[in-house]
Amino acid sequence: MRASHRLLAGSAVAAIALAAGYAGVSTLTAPAVAADAATSGLRVDNFRLADNNLFATDLYRLADAKAVVIITQATGDATLKAQAATLKSMIAAYKDKGVEFRLLNSTLGETREAINAEMAALGIDTPVLIDANQLVGEQLNVQRSAEVIVINPKTWTVAWRGALNPAAPQAVDALVNGRPITAKAAAVAGKAIAFPERAKKASFVNISYADTVAPIIKEKCAECHQPGGIGPMALNTYEQIKGFAPMIRETLRGQRMPPYHADPMVGHFSDGKALSPTQIKTLVHWIEAGAPRGKGVDPLASVKFQAPDWPLGKPDLILDIPAYNIPATGIVDYQNPYAVNPLTEGRWLRASTIKVNERQAVHHILTGYLSQVPGPGQQSQQSRWGTSVGGYAVGAESQIQPANTGVFLPAGGAVGFQNHYTPFGKPVTDKSQIAFYFYPKDKNPELVMRNSVIADQTIQIAPNTEHHREVAYATFPADALLFTAFPHAHYRGNSAKLDLITPDGKRTTILALPKYDFNWQREYTFAEPIKIPAGSRLVADYTFDNTKRNPANPDPNRVVPWGDQSFDEMLYMAIRYRWVGETSSKLTNNDALLNASRAVGMMDDNIDGKLQLAELKGRAGQTLKASFPLLDANKDGGLDEKEMAAAQNRGPQPAPGPRARAN
Ligand code: HEC
Repeated sequence: MRASHRLLAGSAVAAIALAAGYAGVSTLTAPAVAADAATSGLRVDNFRLADNNLFATDLYRLADAKAVVIITQATGDATLKAQAATLKSMIAAYKDKGVEFRLLNSTLGETREAINAEMAALGIDTPVLIDANQLVGEQLNVQRSAEVIVINPKTWTVAWRGALNPAAPQAVDALVNGRPITAKAAAVAGKAIAFPERAKKASFVNISYADTVAPIIKEKCAECHQPGGIGPMALNTYEQIKGFAPMIRETLRGQRMPPYHADPMVGHFSDGKALSPTQIKTLVHWIEAGAPRGKGVDPLASVKFQAPDWPLGKPDLILDIPAYNIPATGIVDYQNPYAVNPLTEGRWLRASTIKVNERQAVHHILTGYLSQVPGPGQQSQQSRWGTSVGGYAVGAESQIQPANTGVFLPAGGAVGFQNHYTPFGKPVTDKSQIAFYFYPKDKNPELVMRNSVIADQTIQIAPNTEHHREVAYATFPADALLFTAFPHAHYRGNSAKLDLITPDGKRTTILALPKYDFNWQREYTFAEPIKIPAGSRLVADYTFDNTKRNPANPDPNRVVPWGDQSFDEMLYMAIRYRWVGETSSKLTNNDALLNASRAVGMMDDNIDGKLQLAELKGRAGQTLKASFPLLDANKDGGLDEKEMAAAQNRGPQPAPGPRARAN
C-alpha cells in the first residue's frame, strides 16, 4: 500500500473497528483463556515474529499452506534433542508438500546467538521465531519445549497438538491429505517454559488506563494519531482508544505499529520509537482484559495536540520547492525541480526540515546541492548533485546533525530535488518547502557530516521467489564513524540488513529490518556512532519477496529490474558518516574513493573484492562482460577496484552507482 492508499485503508479499517467495537475484543481474546486450550480448536490470531536469521514470519500470509506446524523450543532442552531425528524427518517429508514449519522460542531473555548455536548443534535449519514478549506463546497456551502445534490455515485454529513422538507426523499427514486427525497425542515432556505474566492474568483488569496506558499512547502513538496527524484516526481520548482496541492489539501483535521496524535485538538507536516488550505486553493485556477505563482523569483529554508549523522552530532560510500539479490518477515520473540558492556566502547546516503540504500525494523528496543553476527549461540533474541537504519521507521530515557537526551549503548555485508524487484519486497542487537551520557565522562546527548511497542497479529479482537475496557494498578507504542508515526498497522489499565487515574478516549486523515495509521510509540513527576501520566494507544485504504471498506485489511472474517506480525495485541504503580526523578547516577527498569502490561493491555478490564473470548482471554487467579479458589486466579471472577504475577511464562504462536516488 502506498502513501496514496493510506486514507482509504484508514477509513475502511476505522469503520470495521467501530463496528466491532468493544464486543470484538472479548470474542477475539476469549479462546486464549479457554479451559480447553490445551486440546484443539483454539483460534490462532495473526502475529509477526522475527526469526533467528533476521527474517520475519507473518502468520496469516501463510494462508495458502496445507498446514502450519509450530514446534516449541527452549535452549538446552534434552527432549527436543532426543526427538530431533523425528522432527527432521517430519520436516523433510512435508516441507515440499505445502507445510510450513517454524520453531517457536518463547523463553524470556533468550538471545539469537544461543538459539543459533543450539540449532547448529541439532542440525536444524528451520527458522526459530523469537517470541521475546511471549504474546504468541501465551496465546497458544505453550507450557513446554518440544510440543507440536498443528494449525489449519483454512480456519486459523489448532487442529492438533501434542508431543513430537510418536504421533505428530501422523497428525500432519492427516491434515495435509484432508483426513480426520486420529493420531493420539502423548504428553509433552520438554523443558518447562516460564510465563510469569500468565499467572497474573486475573489482574490485567487492574492495568490503569490513566496511569499506564494513556502515557504510552501519548509518548508513542499520539504524535501521528491526532487530529490532522498522518495516522488514519486520532488516538487522543479513552473512547477512541477503546473503539480501536481490537485493531491496536492486532497492529501490536503484527509489529506494524508504531512504524519503527529495526529488530530490537540488533543495535541501539537514539531515535528509537519502538515500544519496549513490557509496553507491548501491557497494552495487549489491557485490551484483552476489556480495555477498562478505571479511575483517574483521562490524561489525553487535556493534551493540546497541535502540530507546530516548523517542528524545529523558526527557520533561518526557507526555500519554496516549485509547485507541482499532481493529477488524480496515473503514474507520475519523478520530478527534478530546483530552487535557486540565495545565499551569498556558504553556511554550515545544523538541521533541515521539509514541510509537505499534500501528504497523501508526496511519497518522498530527496535533495542535492547543485553548484550551477540549471539552464533555462532544464531540470536538476542528479549526476551533478553534491551533498544532500535534507530529505522527506512519511514520518521522517527533519535531518538534525550531531553536536558540533555540520553539512556545508555553499553560496549560490541551487538546491536540486527529486520528488516522487503518488496520485490518490483527487487532483492537488503540492507546494512543499524546505527550511534550513545554520550554525552562527562565527561558530562553524568543527566536524563534517558526509553522505553516500550503497546501491545495486544490476538487480534481477527472480519471479515467484520468496527469498530472493541481493547484496551491495562500499569499501571505506579511511577510518570513519557511521551515524545513520536509511534502507530503501519497493513493493517486493522483504528484509533489509546492514552488515559491517572489518578488515579482519569479522562480519557484524548493525541494523536489521526483518520485515521491510514500503509504507515506511525512515532513517535509523545509531545511539553511538559505529566505528568503521579503514578497509572495512558496509554491506547492504536485502531479500525480496516476489511471490503472491506478498500482498503488495503487483506481479509475481515478472523478473524485476532496478527502476524508479515502485513496480520496479531498488537495493538502496543511504548512509551518513564522518571521516575520522576530517575537520571543517581540513577537508579530505575520501568520498571520491568511497564512491569509486561502489562499482565493484554493486555487483560483487560473493564479496571477495573482485567481479567474476558470473557476477556480471544487468546492463552494466553486459557492458563489462564484453571487454572482460581486456579489462582483467592481471589475468586473475576477476576485476578488482583498480581494474574497474582503469575501465572507467577507458570510455563509456556503467556509472558507479547513484549518489542519492530513491523512490
Ligand atoms: C509515525 C507515525 C505513526 C506512529 C508513531 C503510530 N502510527 Fe499508527 N498509523 C500511522 C499511519 C500513517 C497509519 C495508516 C497506514 C499504515 O497502516 O501503515 C497507521 C495505522 C494504524 C492503525 C490502523 C491499522 C491498520 O490496519 O491500518 C492502528 C490500529 C494504529 N496505527 C495504531 C497505532 C498505535 C497503537 C501506535 C503507538 C503504539 C501507533 N499507531 C503509532 C501512523 C503512525
